[in-house]
Amino acid sequence: MTSQQDQPIVRMVQQHIKGQPASFHVPGHKNGAVFPVSLREWERILPYDLTEITGLDDLHEPEEGIAEAEGLAAEVFGAEKTWFLINGSTTGNLAMVLAAFSPGEQVLVQRDAHKSVMNALKLAGVRAVFARPEIDERTQMPIGISREILVEAWDRYPELKGLIITSPSYEGWSSDIASLAEFVHQKEGVLLVDEAHGAHFAASPLFPKGALAQGADVVVQSAHKMLPALTMSAYLHVSGARVSRERLSHYLRVLQSSSPSYLLLASLDAARHYVHTIQHQGWNAEQLSFQKQQLEAAIGRRLIQPPDAVAADPLKWVIPVPPGYTGWEVQQALEQEHIYSELAGSSYVLWTLPLTNADINFPWQAVKRVWEGLERRPEHRNQASSMLALFPRFSEGVREEKRGEEEWVRLENAEGRIAAAPLIPYPPGIPLWLEGESLKAERIRYVRNRLEGGGRLQGGRKEENRFFVKVKMTKKG
Ligand SMILES: Cc1ncc(COP(=O)(O)O)c(C=O)c1O
Repeated sequence: MTSQQDQPIVRMVQQHIKGQPASFHVPGHKNGAVFPVSLREWERILPYDLTEITGLDDLHEPEEGIAEAEGLAAEVFGAEKTWFLINGSTTGNLAMVLAAFSPGEQVLVQRDAHKSVMNALKLAGVRAVFARPEIDERTQMPIGISREILVEAWDRYPELKGLIITSPSYEGWSSDIASLAEFVHQKEGVLLVDEAHGAHFAASPLFPKGALAQGADVVVQSAHKMLPALTMSAYLHVSGARVSRERLSHYLRVLQSSSPSYLLLASLDAARHYVHTIQHQGWNAEQLSFQKQQLEAAIGRRLIQPPDAVAADPLKWVIPVPPGYTGWEVQQALEQEHIYSELAGSSYVLWTLPLTNADINFPWQAVKRVWEGLERRPEHRNQASSMLALFPRFSEGVREEKRGEEEWVRLENAEGRIAAAPLIPYPPGIPLWLEGESLKAERIRYVRNRLEGGGRLQGGRKEENRFFVKVKMTKKG
């Protein structure tokens, strides 16, 4: 059996490179021999950018190094089977929903799901019932689906075939998945978890417990978000037999490129090895908690924390901004000092921290300068951070209609019209409205506030200071 010390894909690729191969195959850069001068710095990594030639296995039918690497990953992350993904958690979410449900089936979905989950529902032709997550009263932040919501949902919609949740949230706050899994399985449903932000949870008991360890059936993780892995690399894990592995494999073959990047595959292999190393060495949480205190001293405030019952990821810092400011304004001020945050909300800035035992240099002086440079503003209540408050406790997804005629209208004139495209605050990528929904005044107000506060949205059109959204044409006569 292959040892966790091994990195089968890295080894396989490095062996190939050592042989000084002559390339008469794709990609066109021929192991880096032919490449634009402007990217000369890539010289050392280009030989890794290979394709499925002899000795390098095949992601879509793995039998050699890729199969071994996926097996090692399953062991480290606590899955029965793991697939390597080269198009992010996006593909994982699409594949798991398509594999788990059939068209017309009813599925409960946490409303603050990423757009990839929303797209998956549409592609799978399922009937979604959206559940608003609980919202913490103190912080106005979503804290996931509770058992109470679940019980009520199954009561109202007894045909439900499963639940799709997002945990942890972008801010690293986790749901009590074990309790949800127990209930869903009792109802003979399946539990799918978008754990895009929690790939590191298996590394240390100091992180919230991962979804697989709590009984989820299928779990998707973006390796690139919280592990040291290349952008777009991700894992899909399965446990038990409630969701067909054959169907998962089938949809991954449909959805993923037929020319998967070996840079990404090697990086997934190395990231698994990294997690294994931390599992064995232990993760030094002290460094980060010391740095957290430094940050709190620099900004004169405590970081935003969830209620005690909610497990929080210590690698996510939810930094409150001074009264009267929006998170987007402070994010921009930090960028003037070349400090780039993961995202901002109406009243906070979110940082993601590295998973490492090595010393990290934090720019505390610069942070202090930024905070001191923010002149005092009269305290006004920042717009509620959670747009989730705008949603009903349950809402049924709108069924896709045949594409009709559409038009762009100014945001101010959109009330009562039917959305022709989703509008998505980005990041985090959670749709404010979906195609087919009627546009309510309070959501339009939310968009206006967000734009004024400096936030970004995908799916609209900006022209000077006017904002347009796409709606369905109303029938004349
Ligand atoms: C909760 C969640 N799920 C899925 C995704 C999609 O992940 P990826 O970018 O790896 O495709 C994201 C991306 O931000 C996300 O935040």
